[in-house]
Amino acid sequence: MNVFGVDIGGSGIKGAPVDLTRGDLAQARHKVLTPQPATPDDVAGRVVEVVSHFGWSGPIGVTFPGVVTGSTIRTAANVDKRWIGVDAGKLLGDRLGGLPVTVLNDADAAGIAEMSFGAGRGREGTVILLTLGTGIGSALFRGGVLVPNTELGHLELKGHDAEKRASSKAREDEDLSWEHWATRRLQKYLEHVEMLFSPELFIIGGGVSRKADKFLPLIEGITAEIVPAQLQNNAGIVGAAMAARVG
Ligand code: BGC
Repeated sequence: MNVFGVDIGGSGIKGAPVDLTRGDLAQARHKVLTPQPATPDDVAGRVVEVVSHFGWSGPIGVTFPGVVTGSTIRTAANVDKRWIGVDAGKLLGDRLGGLPVTVLNDADAAGIAEMSFGAGRGREGTVILLTLGTGIGSALFRGGVLVPNTELGHLELKGHDAEKRASSKAREDEDLSWEHWATRRLQKYLEHVEMLFSPELFIIGGGVSRKADKFLPLIEGITAEIVPAQLQNNAGIVGAAMAARVG
């Protein structure tokens, strides 16, 4: 069965029909730029563009980089604040001519996909996926079941929002070496999260996970296994489509 998945990110909005049996894209994805500012109306217009590109009419799952309860956006740390309080499922559904739309947090979507088709397959203990990008997203699983909206990127680290210190953007903005970022920022963050949750596995996602060999070997003293995500770029799209099927 195919379901459509859309991943709304800070710079791009991408989507494709997803083959839920294989956990992979059924067709090459289509990507458009995220409008700046990324207001609800303008983003909705771009989502319609992505969906129309495939002439899709069926269920759709959409990720959002903030807390989502039901289909209402509750926080917007790195996107336009006008999203807060918006029922994104209704907004997008209306703009898509009444197609059923499921909305969920971006890291939760990536986590769902990794647990079924990637690095978390068959893992029943506590698993935490962390996406290191503009912010830090988190997805927490126990017995394969997601606890949504954990927002572990906003834990406090040395008096700062953790994502401001340990995200991939922090490394780039502050021009940190891989070693400095890995050993002083990511290491401290993982220690803190491990102290709180004692997971058996950390899955590291986000674009930077493609370069995992540059920083994961530098992390020391964490009891949990730490592995890069396997689905990488498409985890959000696949997870969104999976959530739409079950949601
Ligand atoms: C948001 C999360 C999101 C993460 C990754 C954070 O700033 O609060 O909801 O999952 O960024 O996009």
